[in-house]
Amino acid sequence: MPRQKRAIITGVTSGLGLEVSKSLAKLGYDLVLVGRNEAKLREIAAELEALSPNKATIDYFLCDFEQLDQMAAVSKLIGKAYREIDVVINNVGIWETKQRLNENGFDMTWTVNYFSPFVFTHQLLPTLRLTAQETQDVRIVNLTSDAHRFGKITFPLEKQPFHFFRTYGSTKLANLLHAKYLASLFAEENIRVNAVHPGVVATEFWRTLPNPVIKTIKLLMISPEEGAKTVLSVAAAPNLTASGQYFERMKSVVPSELARDTTLMNTLYRETTVLLAEFLQTTT
Ligand SMILES: NC(=O)c1ccc[n+]([C@@H]2O[C@H](COP(=O)([O-])OP(=O)(O)OC[C@H]3O[C@@H](n4cnc5c(N)ncnc54)[C@H](OP(=O)(O)O)[C@@H]3O)[C@@H](O)[C@H]2O)c1
Repeated sequence: MPRQKRAIITGVTSGLGLEVSKSLAKLGYDLVLVGRNEAKLREIAAELEALSPNKATIDYFLCDFEQLDQMAAVSKLIGKAYREIDVVINNVGIWETKQRLNENGFDMTWTVNYFSPFVFTHQLLPTLRLTAQETQDVRIVNLTSDAHRFGKITFPLEKQPFHFFRTYGSTKLANLLHAKYLASLFAEENIRVNAVHPGVVATEFWRTLPNPVIKTIKLLMISPEEGAKTVLSVAAAPNLTASGQYFERMKSVVPSELARDTTLMNTLYRETTVLLAEFLQTTT
């Protein structure tokens, strides 16, 4: 009997991550949940177990994406804990309207949205490559946003100017360029890497806005169930051939000019590996 597929998903305690996890559980996937709130993760793992038609294994790992050293340690642990990983969904994301810095002096939106998922994906690559040799079908999905169109990336990477909205867009541009870079790197290895804009979705994402504003704008947004559909199709639809694409409303669409700039893509990848070198070592 073929083994069950295993998906790893970050940020499952609310919104899109929770909905995508529920759908994958119903499809019988073994799941590895990654988040920072143990009580919520335990509760959600039990809920997902109950949804699984085939008693899938639902594990979870604790990790705060604000802390890169923790991210490096936990992702190494996950990479070693499983022989096969079929799907990685980089879903954790925040929008901060005021700047905060992490313990490395990096902007927090950049840390949570791009640096941590970069480290996470990098540490899982050896397992993903071995799985792809066996199955010819491994997928990485980066949650991006239509807001990438407002983004701009300058170098040195750690010195991005902060803007209450553009900074978020810039990190989402980085998620998209990262997906494209990995897609080209693994074009011959059956690892398909895509980026998804889920739509404008009524989730906890908008928590930094004032309450009355949230209530009003949420009426205009799509539900998390609806938003999860495009993510799910790219993560789990059979016979996916697309790689390096930007998906929105279930279709591959053309992203911004900067998201198609291969010089920017290559420079971003190179500069990220230099900036995060201490968290990308794979020997320990
Ligand atoms: N909502 C939209 O309209 C929209 C549009 C475009 C793109 N997106 C993207 O979709 C993704 C999911 O967003 P969402 O709308 O589902 O938001 P959400 O409801 O706020 O969910 C975000 C998830 O990320 C987790 N998270 C946040 N900071 C974390 C940290 N430091 N360490 C570990 N986990 C952390 C949260 O966990 P806690 O419960 O611990 O906070 C939560 O599980 C994001 O990448 C976002 O950029 C959303």
